[in-house]
Amino acid sequence: MRERLHLKVLPRDPCENDFTWYEMIRDELLRKTVGRAQRVLDVGCGQGEPLLILSGQIGSGMGVDISEERIRAAENARKKLGIENIEFIHASAVDLPLESGEFDAVLMLGDVLCYDNLYGRQEEVLSEIRRVLIDDGLTVYQGMNWDWEYKLSPSWTYFTRADNGNFRFHRNRRTASGSETSRDYDVVPGTPLHDWLLQRDWPVSPQGHDISIDVIEERKIPQRWLKYSGVSRYQHYTPARLRRRYQNAGFRHVEVLAYGQTYDIVNKAGLLESVGLAKSELAQAEAAVALELRTGSGPWLFLVARK
Ligand SMILES: C[S@@+](CC[C@H](N)C(=O)[O-])C[C@H]1O[C@@H](n2cnc3c(N)ncnc32)[C@H](O)[C@@H]1O
Repeated sequence: MRERLHLKVLPRDPCENDFTWYEMIRDELLRKTVGRAQRVLDVGCGQGEPLLILSGQIGSGMGVDISEERIRAAENARKKLGIENIEFIHASAVDLPLESGEFDAVLMLGDVLCYDNLYGRQEEVLSEIRRVLIDDGLTVYQGMNWDWEYKLSPSWTYFTRADNGNFRFHRNRRTASGSETSRDYDVVPGTPLHDWLLQRDWPVSPQGHDISIDVIEERKIPQRWLKYSGVSRYQHYTPARLRRRYQNAGFRHVEVLAYGQTYDIVNKAGLLESVGLAKSELAQAEAAVALELRTGSGPWLFLVARK
């Protein structure tokens, strides 16, 4: 007889699959905040989109990333667009191969401080950013708003699919201060759980993000279906914690705002399909209001500070 799975699959929130709207707001916040800076550094630049978007309004830019693959992708994108004032180099945020006082703006976007390799090393990263900035230089950070995430779900239980096609199971426990512990398991092939996962639809987000299947364990998954693979620990940021982190690193005029709420409201109203072109207008309006009021609400944080 087939063993029953006691799992409740949670519906996906479209905001988690498609970041287009959030990115429109972020890009607008960046354009307005960075202005006509002469020399801009992007730490953890990924595939380089933010610098390429800003290239028309700044003097010149440099992106650094610890992933050689992403630097290659950024360089290819730059060439394709024929942009000459941006360069990308392979380097780590804790050891920037750059002279002191070289940049009038330094960006760090997409939760770079929360990456595993930087666990416990965030101070070193901020000290490097201060070093390469000119006096009174601008710095910007963007990442998840943990006040928002924690209220949504203090625990998070989900499956992911690894690059090699195997399935993984994660039990995450979160605290309001932003620490998160994930116990990770491989799903044992040949078990009913593995068969069940094989039959499911695994969509891919427009930005190529990993899509997870979020579940509630109505009864714990039998241990013999799982192979424990280890524990990961993360430090995420609430607005207050992010502000303190930058203040303690010696930055001045630290302001943190949150954004992404227009998307959330439209999604909850069931109007995502019908907003069409108004999407970019709403994104621009939200960015303008958030900057004007220096506050805001939503799943993402945007910090602006001065050296
Ligand atoms: C979520 S991605 C964000 C990419 C890009 N900033 C954006 O917002 O589109 C975070 C990036 O940080 C990079 N990263 C992680 N640890 C790093 C380190 N120690 N030094 C430099 N980059 C790092 C990763 O390789 C990844 O490309």
